[in-house]
Amino acid sequence: MKIAVPKERHPGEARVAASPEVVKKLIALGFEVAVEKGAGAGASFTDAAYKAAGATVAADVKAACQGADVVLKVQGPDADGKNAPELAAMSPGAILIANFSALTRPAAVQAVAAAGVTAFAMELMPRITRAQSMDVLSSQSNLAGYKAVLDAAGHYGRIFPMMMTAAGTVPPARVFVMGAGVAGLQAIATAKRLGGVVTAIDVRPAVKEQVESLGAKFVMVDEEATKAAETAGGYAKEMGEDFQKKQNAVVHEHLKKQDVVICTALIPGRRAPTLVTAEMVKDMKPGSVIVDLAVEAGGNCELAEFGKVVVKHGVTIVGYDNVPSRVAEEASALYAKNLLNFLTPLVNKDSKSLAIKWDDDIVKGTLVVKDGAVVNERVKEAMASLSAAPAAAPKAVRRKSAAGEGAAHGAPATETDSKGE
Ligand code: NAI
Repeated sequence: MKIAVPKERHPGEARVAASPEVVKKLIALGFEVAVEKGAGAGASFTDAAYKAAGATVAADVKAACQGADVVLKVQGPDADGKNAPELAAMSPGAILIANFSALTRPAAVQAVAAAGVTAFAMELMPRITRAQSMDVLSSQSNLAGYKAVLDAAGHYGRIFPMMMTAAGTVPPARVFVMGAGVAGLQAIATAKRLGGVVTAIDVRPAVKEQVESLGAKFVMVDEEATKAAETAGGYAKEMGEDFQKKQNAVVHEHLKKQDVVICTALIPGRRAPTLVTAEMVKDMKPGSVIVDLAVEAGGNCELAEFGKVVVKHGVTIVGYDNVPSRVAEEASALYAKNLLNFLTPLVNKDSKSLAIKWDDDIVKGTLVVKDGAVVNERVKEAMASLSAAPAAAPKAVRRKSAAGEGAAHGAPATETDSKGE
């Protein structure tokens, strides 16, 4: 059994799908592992470290993937289906495991199918207890939430903690976290650790308690409406117009008193909700900072620009894309563990061969393409509706990078009106 780990080729992607530590564990499972030369460089994993872990270092993607049973990637093909040379190098029927934004990038799925391979999309991992250790959206969003607060602190011209000094007292930064899922909760914890006074908002009912348990205050918009705001899968639903109006009024007033805003609100497979309008930014204090982690799904802040830091009305708006890649070493290490946890039950340890239970919920949920045919019902439906109404796809929405991405939830990725790509 051979596993290949090619280099990531998507622009700005510093992560890699296997760490040397995970390579050792894959070898213990019965695999031989080939890592493409330089694949770990962006995550500070050297070729020598992979060799020391027992991998061979292949000169190029073709050599790495030749004869591989399984190919591990962070990102699948780009939205146009290109930039994935591993597809041509893989044997028909071999397995590709990556993030594809499969619900919203039909060209990427078609490119994978055309290669005749079998593909598992990690962003489609069911949100069940058994799959928690395989959940790449969680592992990557958690890091993104942390890094977003540090990015905010870096762009903020003041400090987070209250300081009482002989020269006077410095008030603490007021931090508002919008969307308190995995990224938002980590942002709250990080902002608290830095000494900020933290408030948070969300639409799901379970979140209030989680926010309060981290020592932050929950900003409630409409308790009744939040009762129906969660899907069976644990994600938020798109809220109605009434709720949005109420939320806008509450948020507008609240933002006037904030110094730092971390936006993380997402709706799976849809454009991110607009929570901070241009009018609201105008009324914020000069010198405030907004970090929009939702920018890859169209943004929570109307004025955020994909991949850019801009100053509008005296407010710095940070729109970095692929934030997990900004902490590439840990992001890669955790992603690699997610993949190891996913792969382990697919292997028969006695015969040291792949023994995939095709009717298992985790396998069924993530399997997108089998031997060149698109087999995932959710993906088939999404592809049909996108091809029936391409104009309906949200214009400003871009890929969520593995953890994107979100790719997550597979935010629609019509990368057409790019600002700063
Ligand atoms: P997400 O990334 O899809 O969304 C981020 C947050 O934005 C969510 O909390 C959502 O409720 C919120 N949001 C959406 N629309 C909003 C709006 N209009 N205003 C304010 N907030 C809005 O969600 P994430 O972080 O990926 O996960 C959501 C939940 O799923 C987690 O809190 C957890 O309970 C559950 N989960 C379960 C796992 C498992 O059992 N394997 C693994 C990971 C998460």
